[in-house]
Amino acid sequence: MKDQITSRDEIEGAVHHDLRHDSAIKHVTGRAEYCDDIAEPVGTLHAYLGVSNVTHAAIRSLDLSAVRDAPGVIGVLTAADIPGANDISPTGRNDEPVFPTDRIEFHGQPLFAVVAETRDAARRAAELAQMEIEALPHALDPVAAIDAGYPHVTDPLKLERGDVAAGFAGAAHRLQGRLNVGGQDHMYLEGHISFAIPGEDDDVVVHCSTQHPSEAQHMVAHVLGVPSNAVTVNVRRMGGGFGGKESQMNLFACVAALAAKKWNRPVKIRPDRDQDMTATGKRHDFVIDYDVAFDDSGRIQAVESQFAARCGWSSDLSGPVTDRALFHADNAYFYPHVRLTSRPMKTNTVSNTAFRGFGGPQGVVAAERMIEEIAYRLGKDPLEVRKANFYGDEGRDLTPYHQQVTDNILERLVGELETSADYQGRRKDILAFNTANRFIKRGIALTPVKFGISFTATHYNQAGSLIHVYSDGSIHLNHGGTEMGQGLNTKVAQVVADAFQVDVSRIKITKTTTEKVPNTSATAASSGSDLNGMAALDAAQQIKARLVGFAAEHWGVSETEVAFLPNAVRVGTEVMGFDALIKAAYMARVHLSAAGFYKTPDIHWDRAAGKGRPFYYYAYGASCSEVSVDTLSGEYKVERTDILHDVGRSLNPVLDRGQVEGAFIQGMGWLTTEELWWDDAGRLRTHAPSTYKIPLASDAPRIFNVDLAQWSVNPERTIKRSKAVGEPPFMLGISVLEALSMAVASVADYRECPRLDAPATPERVLMAVERLRGAV
Ligand code: MTE
Ligand code: MOS
Repeated sequence: MKDQITSRDEIEGAVHHDLRHDSAIKHVTGRAEYCDDIAEPVGTLHAYLGVSNVTHAAIRSLDLSAVRDAPGVIGVLTAADIPGANDISPTGRNDEPVFPTDRIEFHGQPLFAVVAETRDAARRAAELAQMEIEALPHALDPVAAIDAGYPHVTDPLKLERGDVAAGFAGAAHRLQGRLNVGGQDHMYLEGHISFAIPGEDDDVVVHCSTQHPSEAQHMVAHVLGVPSNAVTVNVRRMGGGFGGKESQMNLFACVAALAAKKWNRPVKIRPDRDQDMTATGKRHDFVIDYDVAFDDSGRIQAVESQFAARCGWSSDLSGPVTDRALFHADNAYFYPHVRLTSRPMKTNTVSNTAFRGFGGPQGVVAAERMIEEIAYRLGKDPLEVRKANFYGDEGRDLTPYHQQVTDNILERLVGELETSADYQGRRKDILAFNTANRFIKRGIALTPVKFGISFTATHYNQAGSLIHVYSDGSIHLNHGGTEMGQGLNTKVAQVVADAFQVDVSRIKITKTTTEKVPNTSATAASSGSDLNGMAALDAAQQIKARLVGFAAEHWGVSETEVAFLPNAVRVGTEVMGFDALIKAAYMARVHLSAAGFYKTPDIHWDRAAGKGRPFYYYAYGASCSEVSVDTLSGEYKVERTDILHDVGRSLNPVLDRGQVEGAFIQGMGWLTTEELWWDDAGRLRTHAPSTYKIPLASDAPRIFNVDLAQWSVNPERTIKRSKAVGEPPFMLGISVLEALSMAVASVADYRECPRLDAPATPERVLMAVERLRGAV
């Protein structure tokens, strides 16, 4: 049993170590394969959506004869061509037809698809439809919708604890405010795309850019009227998802599959950027009304808030998104008496959907605005008010949803950041700078984040995996999570490499497919590595247990004498290569494949009662940003940002830092320059990068210090005691908004908290300055 053994102390790609993204080189050299790179079989057709050019109307007639007659056109698809259900609602509410039959609900709504020999022909033909309609009045935003008596798209949620009336009655101070928070387009680099290839009988394979292959599979089956076992959905990777491909791919997957089955030819659909932006949902805008009572030290006594959201024409994921806004409306702060309500409003706009943070950021930003208001009212440093309200020991550790906060590390985390960023010293300097300078003003803010980890729909917190060890010792890894740039596949491969103690290069990362791991959840809620890492570990452990049992029996030692060393296995006193063990196990007919499974323990949620433990644990972070504002133009820049973020024991620090940096920048973009703007007719006028400004590399903070809290360990039994990282750092961008607010407030000597809605575009900053200067 002798063999050449690579004797290294540690495997390559061990957990808790930096390892570059497995596709990094392929990303930058253009060799990573995306949906649109898959070789097209001869005879592939191309579909394009025909959309409405009115906002709200009854359809009298839809004449597609000119579309059908256009050059290169094979045919059109309308609601009448759907053999199964004309419904792609992700929550089973049956309120989202693939194509409408009698009513147009928003400007740009897909009404039909045209299928042609080339994409160009399909795109040109899609413009030729003739329609007769009867226009109806529309409501575009949540306030207009409430005024017009529009319905909620799903049942509102109420979270309540304590005695709100008594809390208000006994308090020394009270203030009310309204905050408007804008939405956000996902701006993934790769837009939506689906490519369907028909097979025999009912079969169809769909390659789709999706975070949720199982949902795309079930939706295609539902629309085709076939069982799910006839449909396979594959995704190797996405060029970004950010929540925009959790449910919004359904339309494209279904249209491609419908056309593929109807004409029995492969069909691809890829909207251009304008259509991707107008026809697919975004982050929800919110209008938040708050009423808060507090004492002389700034400690909050009672809070009552209402969160009205622009949900769009159908429910999509608006129920859970608006729920999560309430779950995060406390952010890091204890509210002794609290009542929070959501108003998920139907509007005549595109149906809004998941976006990094899933409604949570809108809740957090409202909490931070309240803190700022309290600080200005009392003439205090907002950081002091933040600290006074942090969750604490017994008596100050219950959330509005009655979950106890047991893992709070914010005092230490914020304290360390305050020191490392020299918050106090720089705030003093900035106050002096603002006194000395008339037009350029500076601001600084340090804001915390506490973010609950788990899907609030408890049943989603499950995952599966499939591992094969081939007889040559190479390993094939599959799990239900999807890769969208976040590095999930790299992390899960590290977990498996660690389990077998083999170099990560031995592990083949494979595409996500509904054929290998069924009934998966969306890769979302930041829980990809928590869930799939555990499921993969389970499969690896099953195979390891069989190997240990085999080795013990075969070589006559006890099981405790079998140990996995880096790229080797010790059996008794002998050491052999991993390959040699696998070969021997294969010859002895040991089963070298396993399906793994994991479900998050200990969580439960009773929505009707508003009580439970929806989150397994919390992830924490804090950021400190300094900005300078030209108060004559409203233009600004971020001079410096310092971040300290908690990922527990990081599975891969370099990937986690990338997530923290990217999330911060994306959060900053949401609150500063990214503005969605609908005209009165209901048209989205910011529908391309020309009119919608995401942060550029040149907008990043001039000085950008990002650290992970090295000392943090997840007290819960998560994968290697790590914490989720995808969404929580998004809310670190709030420090930029509050720093801008301080710079603006300086023009009126900080007497008043500026009314600064988000996004705080240069125009809004200028208007806030002028209002305070008394010019408006
Ligand atoms: N990072 C990149 N590069 N691209 C993405 O699309 N999506 C974010 C986050 N980070 C995203 C990303 C969102 S919305 C979520 S929920 C998580 O990644 C999902 O992946 P995870 O659960 O594996 O962290
Ligand atoms: Mo992320 S918004 O949960 O896809």
